[in-house]
Amino acid sequence: MEALLLNAENRSAEVKTISKPIPRWNEILIRVHSIALNPVDSLYVYHPLGSTGRVIGSDFAGTVESLGPDVPATGGLKPGHRVAGFLQGASSVNDRPGAFAEYLVCPYDLVWRVPADLSLEAAAAVSLCGLTAAQALFYRLGMKAPFKWDDLRAQDDACNFSVFIYGASTSVGLYAAQLVRRAAEASGGKVRLVGAASRKHFGMLKAEPYGYDHLVDYRDDNWPEQVRTFTDDKGVKYAYDCISEGSTIVNTAKTLAVGAGMAVVRSRQGGAWDTPREELPTEPIYGAVWEGLGEDVQYVGMFLPKSKVSRDFATAFYKWLSEDGRLQPNPIRLMPGGLKKVMGDGLRLMGSGTMEDREASRTEEWMKPVSAEKLVYQLERSN
Ligand SMILES: NC(=O)c1ccc[n+]([C@@H]2O[C@H](COP(=O)([O-])OP(=O)(O)OC[C@H]3O[C@@H](n4cnc5c(N)ncnc54)[C@H](OP(=O)(O)O)[C@@H]3O)[C@@H](O)[C@H]2O)c1
Repeated sequence: MEALLLNAENRSAEVKTISKPIPRWNEILIRVHSIALNPVDSLYVYHPLGSTGRVIGSDFAGTVESLGPDVPATGGLKPGHRVAGFLQGASSVNDRPGAFAEYLVCPYDLVWRVPADLSLEAAAAVSLCGLTAAQALFYRLGMKAPFKWDDLRAQDDACNFSVFIYGASTSVGLYAAQLVRRAAEASGGKVRLVGAASRKHFGMLKAEPYGYDHLVDYRDDNWPEQVRTFTDDKGVKYAYDCISEGSTIVNTAKTLAVGAGMAVVRSRQGGAWDTPREELPTEPIYGAVWEGLGEDVQYVGMFLPKSKVSRDFATAFYKWLSEDGRLQPNPIRLMPGGLKKVMGDGLRLMGSGTMEDREASRTEEWMKPVSAEKLVYQLERSN
């Protein structure tokens, strides 16, 4: 089969032919139909952690080809079922293959069933950033989730408070707003949702399924003060910084009420921001979506031990997505050319680290900067 493999020496990725994987205990073999790109896919090609030959890529959607040994019948998965999920691939030191390949293997309970009326292209856009947002809001900040999971920590009884999302038009932010709304509905509460995005996205973000009450333009110097005016200057109970680069941390922290919680998508340890603890009212909570895969994750200088609770949270989220938890996928940009064009086009658009590093000079229609959308490739198959 064809797969996109890391070339660590060249800081690049190349399509090569490798053996089709064989599903082991509790795994399923998936024939990949579509893949979606995330900034982390390009980050670790331009700054490799893994060695040459690793399959890169995270988000996928496809059909079940076969079941490995011991996949429980109660899971109900059968060959032909349409599923989506994500893998970590070359985004860690640990040698596990990624998703940018014609076939992949994945634990049977770390995929969700794609409903008949959702395309596999759209489904590919959901898993990684949807779970990232769910982890931040429910697992890390402690809002009451709209789905059941075994949480022993105290949670809010009803969602009656204000929430602020910085980077509301990011893929993560688009799922976070929907999840806040769904959590409020499920708890019978009322959330005031405030966001920061480009003015051009205000119309989309005020409409369903995001339903922002108030929006500020992140290019205005005084946006934190504007956010506070929407909370009678008391500040928000929860803030989620979906950019977490440089000054976004200190500015997002200005929106917090006394005793409020704040989650971030990038870490101080990873160098994306360096605001000292004493300049912040609370330590921002960082976590990596990979925790949901239930395996040890090794970066350079950081180690995330495997966590059963985090894996259980991921399976509960996927179960909800499979049953009644419909999230509207990000708007997708269908990219031309299949796997062989991912490196030269898609990964360049995703950039090598920060939002400012992203490719913005190409003139083709499909190479305009990513803005409130997800880049998706269909696989052009060799078999
Ligand atoms: N911790 C984790 O496990 C985890 C998981 C997933 C993602 N992440 C990280 O989360 C970040 C967001 O990822 P993503 O896939 O959601 O990003 P994305 O969708 O590719 O982000 C693009 C969006 O960011 C907006 N944007 C760019 N610069 C901004 C700024 N300074 N302020 C506010 N908005 C800005 C753009 O809006 P305009 O076009 O309107 O300017 C655009 O809509 C990335 O750093 C990613 O690596 C972390």
